[in-house]
Amino acid sequence: MNAPLRKVVFPVAGLGTRFLPASKVVAKEMLPVLDKPLIQYAVDEAVDAGADTLVFITSRYKHAIADYFDTAYELEQKLERSGKRELLAAVRDLIPRNVRCVYVTQSEALGLGHAVLCAKPVIGDEPFGVILPDDLIWNRGAGALRQMAQFAPSRDAGVIAVEEVPRDETHKYGIVDAESGDGRAARVRHVVEKPKPEVAPSNLAIVGRYVLPGRIFELLEKTTPGAGGEIQLTDAIAALLRDGDVHAFRFDGTRFDCGSKLGLVQATLHFALQDPALADATRAFVKSA
Ligand code: UTP
Repeated sequence: MNAPLRKVVFPVAGLGTRFLPASKVVAKEMLPVLDKPLIQYAVDEAVDAGADTLVFITSRYKHAIADYFDTAYELEQKLERSGKRELLAAVRDLIPRNVRCVYVTQSEALGLGHAVLCAKPVIGDEPFGVILPDDLIWNRGAGALRQMAQFAPSRDAGVIAVEEVPRDETHKYGIVDAESGDGRAARVRHVVEKPKPEVAPSNLAIVGRYVLPGRIFELLEKTTPGAGGEIQLTDAIAALLRDGDVHAFRFDGTRFDCGSKLGLVQATLHFALQDPALADATRAFVKSA
């Protein structure tokens, strides 16, 4: 496609049951890895991919996300008066000025596919990105979504991020059956949501990044509840495959599943080890633990 992705959707209306009781009041996407919440890493990746419109699919319990991106007048005034310029910049410059945020409420958690469908009135008919903020992807170069947007062969093609997972974990993911490809990208033959290891077509799992054509919305509208009784994005992608073009894309980067406790711990350690102010003490602590 080689054009920047203008619009990116963040489905953040899930219940986050794996982080209960904290997620009773703290949205999972607001959990921090060091000093930034997961949603900030996701937004940075979208902006890196060229987005100027960020669409958050939220629930009535997740006001914290909108509050986080809103101006905090009192705090900013205090930091300004006390000359704390770096901190002031840190709370002020969360999103570039040319980027706008749109919030759409998903009134009931009916599934990821349903959450993405809620973005239809904002997206219209153009290709768009989807980032699941609990999949945090770290790398040094272009972000995963930018890599995918640059790869996308046409406006009508879908691109889904994949990585290999242990065979006994296929039931946690959408799993892809793909042609052999060039090692980086491969045309998808078939996708299936959360198959048991014995029936999974491969161990290539879909992770939380998608580039999708506007046509996905009409397919989502026809999608009935699937695995777990939820309207699954994977099922609409399976429908897109019937007469369209979907590619599995192996991004450069390390993914942390921050929707799980272990993944959040791993991400925190990883980012601490990248931080010169924290690396030595973190390494020493881990060695002694
Ligand atoms: P998950 O499968 O991780 O579910 O959703 P969850 O509710 O967030 O967390 P657990 O499994 O109960 O701990 C994948 C993504 O889809 C979003 C979630 O917010 C997450 O980003 N989602 C899921 C919605 O926005 N709406 C839904 O109805 C379901």
